[in-house]
Amino acid sequence: MKVLITLLMGFFFVGAAFAEDAAPASAGKKIFMDKKCAGCHAIEAEGIVKKTPATKTGPPDLSTVGADAKPGFIAKYLMKEADIKGKKHMMKFAGTPEELKTLAAYLEGLKGKAEEKK
Ligand code: HEC
Repeated sequence: MKVLITLLMGFFFVGAAFAEDAAPASAGKKIFMDKKCAGCHAIEAEGIVKKTPATKTGPPDLSTVGADAKPGFIAKYLMKEADIKGKKHMMKFAGTPEELKTLAAYLEGLKGKAEEKK
């Protein structure tokens, strides 16, 4: 019986840890939707699609944007303080610093399917 209780408690704590992990990600996703990022960007790996299909020159799908982003870069980029290949982002992020942090952390975590997609 003791073993069973210990096991159950183990599962409970692992579950709680996962739930805690998932919270910032879903918060980041919510900000992404609230700030209308999805109007231009799809994140296929997250089930975020936009009405118009992605084109070679249009806003990129962000499914793997975290794969080679240096820590802190995305937040700077979204504030137009950094550029990619000489280009700054189209719009400066309009939200609180906390929202920016959560959103950037969420995007940095998007590393999915980099290998599968070619
Ligand atoms: C009006 C359209 C538009 C909106 C809205 C928009 N973006 Fe973008 N975004 C672009 C385009 C276009 C690019 C490609 C770079 C360029 O040409 O500026 C880009 C690039 C990016 C990149 C870099 C991708 C890479 O190449 O690595 C990130 C990250 C990004 N956007 C995040 C966001 C986030 C987060 C939001 C919401 C706060 C957002 N974007 C809103 C058009 C948009």
